[in-house]
Amino acid sequence: MVPHKAAYIPSKKARLEIGTAEYTHPGENEIVVKTAAVAVKPLDWVKQDVGDVFSSWIKYPFVMESDLAGEVVEAVGMDERKHGVQKETLLVWGGSTSVGCNAIQLATAAGYDVITTASSHIHGYLKKLGAIAKSLGFCIDVLSKCRGRKFIAQVSFDWRPSGFPQGPLDWPFAMRMGAYMVSLKSKAALKRLQVKFFWGTDNMANELGKAIYEDFLSQALRDGLFIAAPEPLVVGKGLEHIQEAMNLNKKGVSAKKVVVPV
Ligand SMILES: NC(=O)c1ccc[n+]([C@@H]2O[C@H](COP(=O)([O-])OP(=O)(O)OC[C@H]3O[C@@H](n4cnc5c(N)ncnc54)[C@H](OP(=O)(O)O)[C@@H]3O)[C@@H](O)[C@H]2O)c1
Repeated sequence: MVPHKAAYIPSKKARLEIGTAEYTHPGENEIVVKTAAVAVKPLDWVKQDVGDVFSSWIKYPFVMESDLAGEVVEAVGMDERKHGVQKETLLVWGGSTSVGCNAIQLATAAGYDVITTASSHIHGYLKKLGAIAKSLGFCIDVLSKCRGRKFIAQVSFDWRPSGFPQGPLDWPFAMRMGAYMVSLKSKAALKRLQVKFFWGTDNMANELGKAIYEDFLSQALRDGLFIAAPEPLVVGKGLEHIQEAMNLNKKGVSAKKVVVPV
């Protein structure tokens, strides 16, 4: 078998290096994908920048990436799950993010009316995805405008690069995060709102995983009811361009998915 190549972080806070990787056969309910392209996301460069402050269980050398496209070459079993549909109005906070563009389309397909916030230059694109797009100023008065409607909020922390924690004992950062969480919970309690954080990977263990990826997405993509959004912004070709792609995503993109074909 041809040796596999991988871009990996060799040690804490180090830049990516290219090396070889062992082939791993899939376990129960897992697949192996021959990767054609990878996409980067904020979590990638955040992990590189902050080291063990985030996901300290990760051991180095570490091969990252969960956003990829390619061909399934091995699969072992998939379990059965069920899903349901509701009709409400939903608020997707940050509609021009990669997460937001997909949340808008999934929510619209599930029968929700979607209101989203984003910079004004991107409103036309978000309307095409099915959202009622509002400028960021909308968020100042968002609760009164959503009165009587059920909504979900997509929250991102204000993590400017200069504001990243420098270590587990970075007290100013820990205090900012602590104050933010207390303030968020208090405001929510006053407004009688439920606050819940979940990871994207949580969907593997609940009924949404099967509902989205098996029952809905393949057919919707074939029928053109769901499009790959946001638009790709291709950076080079090959694993050696992934660090450049992470740097570009860190600078900030607007309704673009930074992608590297490999
Ligand atoms: N909980 C989870 O499992 C999970 C999973 C994935 C992501 N996330 C989080 O969700 C958030 C979005 O992730 P993503 O990958 O979708 O992000 P993304 O596509 O990189 O988001 C880019 C958006 O950020 C805004 N932006 C860019 N530069 C900016 C700047 N200098 N100042 C202010 N805004 C700027 C832009 O909004 P405009 O175009 O409107 O200006 C742009 O659409 C992140 O906080 C990420 O950590 C969470």
